[in-house]
Amino acid sequence: MQEKIKQIESEAIQAINNAQSLPSLDDARVRFLGKNSEFMSLLKSLGDLPIEMRPQAGALLNTVKTKLENALRDKKIVLLQQDQQKKIAAGKIDVTLPGKGIRRGKIHPITQVMEEAKGIFLRLGFEIAEGPDIELEYYNFDGLNIPPHHPSRDMWSTLFIKDDVLLRTHTSPVQIRVMEKRKPPLAIIAPGRVYRRDYDATHSPVFHQLEGFLVDQHVTFGDLKGTLTEFLRQIFGKDKNVRFRPSFFPFTEPSAEVDVECVMCSGKGCRLCKDTGWLEILGSGMIDPNVFKAVSYDPEKYSGFAFGMGIERIAMLKFGVDNIRLFYENDLRFLEQF
Ligand code: DAH
Repeated sequence: MQEKIKQIESEAIQAINNAQSLPSLDDARVRFLGKNSEFMSLLKSLGDLPIEMRPQAGALLNTVKTKLENALRDKKIVLLQQDQQKKIAAGKIDVTLPGKGIRRGKIHPITQVMEEAKGIFLRLGFEIAEGPDIELEYYNFDGLNIPPHHPSRDMWSTLFIKDDVLLRTHTSPVQIRVMEKRKPPLAIIAPGRVYRRDYDATHSPVFHQLEGFLVDQHVTFGDLKGTLTEFLRQIFGKDKNVRFRPSFFPFTEPSAEVDVECVMCSGKGCRLCKDTGWLEILGSGMIDPNVFKAVSYDPEKYSGFAFGMGIERIAMLKFGVDNIRLFYENDLRFLEQF
């Protein structure tokens, strides 16, 4: 038995020394110390030996077992180190590589202008309301004093979904939806996406508008002028002149378009302002009595003003962008400039 043990020991030590990889070292462990190994059956058969031989054989088996376990552990450490050396030599861990920088995101210029415009009106006491992008024809047109087949419907190149359902062409339908549900006094802004069959350097089929309206007793055109002048000065700068020009919208009477002094030539006349010195920024007016009637407000008791503006247009003028598509292409070289 002693001889048998010695033989196993030397074979095992040799196998451990010869192992070139972690898997082959584990093979050696299973072969010599595993459950079904010769060594283990010797351990189990200790009880079959004559009683006086047991202590000596047992002690020998234990010493050999400890020896082999130590040899396995030491070899494992050597192989692990070799593995790591190989990986480093193969360049898998190149500690000289530069780190991956974290790039900072920017807020999209359209969002920036929308947030700035909303902020100005919120500070003036307006509150935010929203309406659906898919709108009923009634709210987009009829309720706003634009009857079916009226030529003024041509002002909006409408995308219809079915007979009486469409993609809203402006944010003005939110006026009707809010007034239908609530009573004056109201000071509301309605930001959102709008849709038109339009596509060129300054028009996109999807763009953003900011609508606003204020209804109370004794609201005058002076209130409209004061509010919008303050807004435009905050958006374009205090030094910019503002003018109100007579216009027409079915839902306001009288109506005015509001111009700001050209941002490029400061009023001298250039290509951008087509030599007028002025840039058209928004539509506005005193809410038409027919609109009040549609929401069952008494036009003798209440008056109000309303306005609507295109956010893309304001962003283009503020940032000097000459093609609206740049806002939607998500080219980082463009977006990083804001
Ligand atoms: N809804 C108009 C448009 O899309 C803009 C507008 C003009 C809104 C006058 C108004 C307004 O509230 O009073 O062209």
